[in-house]
Amino acid sequence: MPTPRSRSRQPDYDVLDISLAREGRRRILWADERMPVLRRIREGFAKKQPLRGLRLAACLHITTETANLLRTLKAGGAEVICCASNPLSTQDDVAASLVEDFGIGSFAIRAEDRDTYYRHLRAVLERHPVITMDDGADLVNLLHTEFSAQAKEVIASMEETTTGVIRLRAMERDGALKIPVVAVNDAQTKFLFDNRYGTGQSTIDGIIRATGVLMAGSVVVVGGYGWCGRGVASRARGLGANVIVTEVAPIPALEAAMDGFRVMKMSEAARIGDIFVTVTGDKEVIGADHFKHMKDGAIICNSGHFDVEIDIAALAKMASKVDDNIARNVTAYHMSDNRRIYLLGQGRLVNLACAEGHPAQVMDMSFATQALAAQWVAGGAKLAVKVHKVPQKIEDEVATLKLAAMGIKIDRLTAEQKQYLTSWQSGT
Ligand SMILES: NC(=O)c1ccc[n+]([C@@H]2O[C@H](COP(=O)([O-])OP(=O)(O)OC[C@H]3O[C@@H](n4cnc5c(N)ncnc54)[C@H](O)[C@@H]3O)[C@@H](O)[C@H]2O)c1
Repeated sequence: MPTPRSRSRQPDYDVLDISLAREGRRRILWADERMPVLRRIREGFAKKQPLRGLRLAACLHITTETANLLRTLKAGGAEVICCASNPLSTQDDVAASLVEDFGIGSFAIRAEDRDTYYRHLRAVLERHPVITMDDGADLVNLLHTEFSAQAKEVIASMEETTTGVIRLRAMERDGALKIPVVAVNDAQTKFLFDNRYGTGQSTIDGIIRATGVLMAGSVVVVGGYGWCGRGVASRARGLGANVIVTEVAPIPALEAAMDGFRVMKMSEAARIGDIFVTVTGDKEVIGADHFKHMKDGAIICNSGHFDVEIDIAALAKMASKVDDNIARNVTAYHMSDNRRIYLLGQGRLVNLACAEGHPAQVMDMSFATQALAAQWVAGGAKLAVKVHKVPQKIEDEVATLKLAAMGIKIDRLTAEQKQYLTSWQSGT
């Protein structure tokens, strides 16, 4: 295992292989071409330096798009360090390039074990950041436990994903939260596009890259019909799959039914599915009672934040043999009745473990929202200790810039329409 190193012109880092930087840089710049909103913000940041002198720690998936966000924050004057928000999502070439080409201290190695994962989170907090960014709230959690003495130094933290926001709201409810947090995930410029179209496309991409399976004619079971589930279900249908949705909440279940999907219990779907995707943020959505009834060759994977949605321990217990060597990112579980169940990406986010995560065009909006939220918290807003929404002004700015980048013009309200839409007098 490599140990943290430092060269005079480089920040501290712990990456797999610094010589991968060249390929990482090439891919970072390729993604940047598809991130016009973030580029525009970066140019503004370079001039105005809204983050000057602030140390910012980002615990995010270390991908090409994240690299472009980190470049933007650095251009705004921040000293930026980062670590991975998932042990299996790091792109090692990107981690290397962040250090070598962009002077950003990176502590992330793909497939790092749990101890290394937490060592990297600690390495980042040991540098006393005053703004943090999280994807899943592991960094903030550590800041409230082992590093709680440092919490008072932090102006605010930004949270990128649904599961992280759920954890932070639970901390707020329990009176445990010590810092202001901005729920970037809950911005419309994030979840409507990133969770739906980003997770939708990249989850299918991950399944196809790992297995090469034909979607057309396959029975795909999607566990959860939230923003991510909608995206996965509609993209699978677009490729000709016969899609079944499972839910626990009546409204999304009804929505799925009226969107034209079959809706049923997982116990029923388990018997007929060819490919299973969980994307709920919940635990044990697929467990022993389901594995028992699955067809030979069933493919199971997860695109929710944590690797708890599939009960892998139960699967391992039921299996007479586990074969990790069947194909890259595929583990075969052989059942005693000769059925095989194939788990992708160790049950971790399949779109990042088996593919490269969301397309840059969609991360352009999520990370533009992150960058402007960072500018907002750094601007002396004196935020209360709670979970905050992203200000509407930021959302409007990001959407307006994205439309402009896409060459789309929209109508404007006339003065009369504005007046009409805010009045109650005129009726039938
Ligand atoms: N793969 C990625 O890149 C990516 C991107 C964004 C979000 N996420 C993660 O995906 C998960 C879902 O996010 P979201 O924004 O769609 O959340 P969401 O809250 O919009 O939807 C989750 C849905 O799952 C349903 N659900 C909960 N428990 C269930 C169960 N046992 N069986 C069936 N359905 C169940 C809920 O009723 C809800 O409708 C979260 O963990 C989030 O952090 C992953």
